[in-house]
Amino acid sequence: MNSKLERILRLVQENPVEFTRFSGDLQQINPESRVVSISNILERVKLPEHSTILDIGTGYGYGAVLLSALGYNVMGVELNRDKLEEGMDYWKRLGIDFEQTEDLSLATSSSGKLYFSARDSKNLGDIPNQSIDMVTAFYISGYMTGEKGAFREVGRILDEHGNFTMTTEGPIQLPQFLRGLAVNLASRFLGPSDLRLTSRFTINDSQVYDKFVLVYDKA
Ligand SMILES: C[S@@+](CC[C@H](N)C(=O)[O-])C[C@H]1O[C@@H](n2cnc3c(N)ncnc32)[C@H](O)[C@@H]1O
Repeated sequence: MNSKLERILRLVQENPVEFTRFSGDLQQINPESRVVSISNILERVKLPEHSTILDIGTGYGYGAVLLSALGYNVMGVELNRDKLEEGMDYWKRLGIDFEQTEDLSLATSSSGKLYFSARDSKNLGDIPNQSIDMVTAFYISGYMTGEKGAFREVGRILDEHGNFTMTTEGPIQLPQFLRGLAVNLASRFLGPSDLRLTSRFTINDSQVYDKFVLVYDKA
């Protein structure tokens, strides 16, 4: 594990937090399991060094912060401004470097930086065409797989070799054995229409909660 990532995991252990206002799901804010999940994905999805990643629905920013520690240029967008602000306050307290911005147009050409922007992912007009190597949507509930328009800009901003990767635990109210099936069906019928589902896999690690992974390429 790289030293920046180790430092973040240490800081998070020393400064535990319970973001219970917007989610009672403590798995979501369990950085050790999130690192396992993200590492698994990056082993499968070969991403060139210094790539630019957009994290949709970044929540408190866990995925974005961990990806940034791996050296990528990362932007996290989140619809719920209060949730994002709680997350940013936390990262600031831990000394994690990031910039909050309303304008992501320059973020794509910077290197190794982390940006957060409070907005709906339907509004990505400031991000140039084909300027993003990977779009992530981590740990989203099954409902977002089919949220109308949430991913409609993804095809435009992705580089031709880019990918869009979603992880989901599936609709939360379903028993565990039905979640994989629900995610499979959702990915087949509800995925982003201008992208092609190229890979679907499960992370077989009991530590990982968001274990269903869907990878889309440009059609
Ligand atoms: C379950 S949380 C996942 C948080 C985060 N991705 C993580 O890995 O910790 C899903 C997030 O997606 C956000 N969201 C839902 N629809 C959105 C949209 N259209 N644009 C941006 N964020 C959205 C929600 O507000 C919520 O914070």
